[in-house]
Amino acid sequence: MKPRSQNKPLLFTVATVIVLLALYLLTAFYEQLSSLLSRAQMAGLAAPETIIGVLRLFLLGILAYLVVRALNFLVFGLFRFRRGFDAPTLVRNIFSILAFTGLFLLIFMVLFPKVNLGALFTTSAIFGVILGLALQDTLGNFFAGISLQADRPFQVGDVITVGALRLTGVVEEITWRAIKIRTFQNHVVLINNSSAAKEPIEVCPRDNLNARLVYFNTLYTDSPAKAIHVVREAVREADNVSQKITPIVRIRNLADSGVEYEVKYWLDDYARYNDTDALVRQRIWYAFRRAGLNFAYPTRTLLVERKVKPGVRDGDGGAIIERLSAVDIFAPLSAEETAMLAQSSMSHIFAPGETVIRAGDPGSSMFVVHNGRVSVQVNENGKPRTVATLTEGDFFGEMALFTGEPRTANIVALEETEVLEIRHDSMKQVFDANPELVASLSHIIAERRQVLATKADTSTGETYEPAGLLSAIKRFFGLN
Ligand code: CMP
Repeated sequence: MKPRSQNKPLLFTVATVIVLLALYLLTAFYEQLSSLLSRAQMAGLAAPETIIGVLRLFLLGILAYLVVRALNFLVFGLFRFRRGFDAPTLVRNIFSILAFTGLFLLIFMVLFPKVNLGALFTTSAIFGVILGLALQDTLGNFFAGISLQADRPFQVGDVITVGALRLTGVVEEITWRAIKIRTFQNHVVLINNSSAAKEPIEVCPRDNLNARLVYFNTLYTDSPAKAIHVVREAVREADNVSQKITPIVRIRNLADSGVEYEVKYWLDDYARYNDTDALVRQRIWYAFRRAGLNFAYPTRTLLVERKVKPGVRDGDGGAIIERLSAVDIFAPLSAEETAMLAQSSMSHIFAPGETVIRAGDPGSSMFVVHNGRVSVQVNENGKPRTVATLTEGDFFGEMALFTGEPRTANIVALEETEVLEIRHDSMKQVFDANPELVASLSHIIAERRQVLATKADTSTGETYEPAGLLSAIKRFFGLN
């Protein structure tokens, strides 16, 4: 069978030919038909001319309908050609109704010039009221449809969510009666225009970058900076995730069983958000697997208390000893001394952008970068300026520790960074056993002070020569 749209021109032509033929026959055999009607005693009902007039009106009415259809096709075909999209169904229907009514009235007045149409309309007030009451809902829908078309809050192809029932789907059609949406279960739902006009409607326009939120969680032992980075990179490559805006991953809650996150991403085609959400979750699972991250699920953990030094992580003592022995100023220390220093050091972890040390604060410890990177920043004309970047194995904070003066610069983590803190008393033990360390440290401090003196807004305290520094450090630590 041919599709309906291909049959249409044929049907249209056949119908037009039949109507024209009938009209021709009516005119050609007018006399015969008229006398036939009189003979058949139908004149008692109405005059033969009136009956033939009504027949003509009927045929011309069908012809008017066909003409209006053809006009509709031409006018809105031109509209589509010019604008590149279909005119709304409601507009097409209103056009057809008005054109047909106009044509029909014209035909009526030509066929029945003696009938006063004006009187017919004015004397039919009661009829109008009855009709109005009967059509109350229909007219309500019709006018709500007109106001929807005038406002144009959404268009065919947009995804909308309507009312308290949160009916969601892609708009397929807006008619004079209802909005037709196709849900994501492929059901067609019709929402009356008048009900839609009263309900809140959430619109996700087709040509807009609409966002979605997908939730996931991790164990408390997994680093947030790592989880955020891993998920952002995994999600941005998924199909239908817009390349125009980078997805945003953020912590939304520190919950009972884990850290809860949300990832916000933007879609190229919002109508496919179900599939894309699913793909995003799948990508997160695989990315977690590769990066050694873990999803949290409700668990009850029984902790057996063990006295451990706060800040010292269990099980990585070897790595800390290795790190400290690679720091150049600790090179002269024996293996036992390095192990003792490692034992007394405390590990701290900082998020990207966090401040480890603030200029001007008092300080009684120094730090070694165990993992990650930090920047040394001073204020120049009121703005932070980086004077150095320190990476794994570098140390900082020694100036305040060895001289007792306030911190000379800000230290800011550039990425997730783990530092080992060595406190004053641990350093004193090291100095007592290795007095020659003081000399090498005083050289480093003097060099760093030199850099600061040229870059910072404010003076960084007294400027010592290495020799002066040496005696200041010795004094501070009570060394001979
Ligand atoms: P402190 O003054 O205790 O705190 C800020 C730290 O920044 C300082 O010790 C040094 O360890 C470090 N610092 C200051 N200037 C420099 C520099 N030019 N290069 C590297 N580190 C520096």
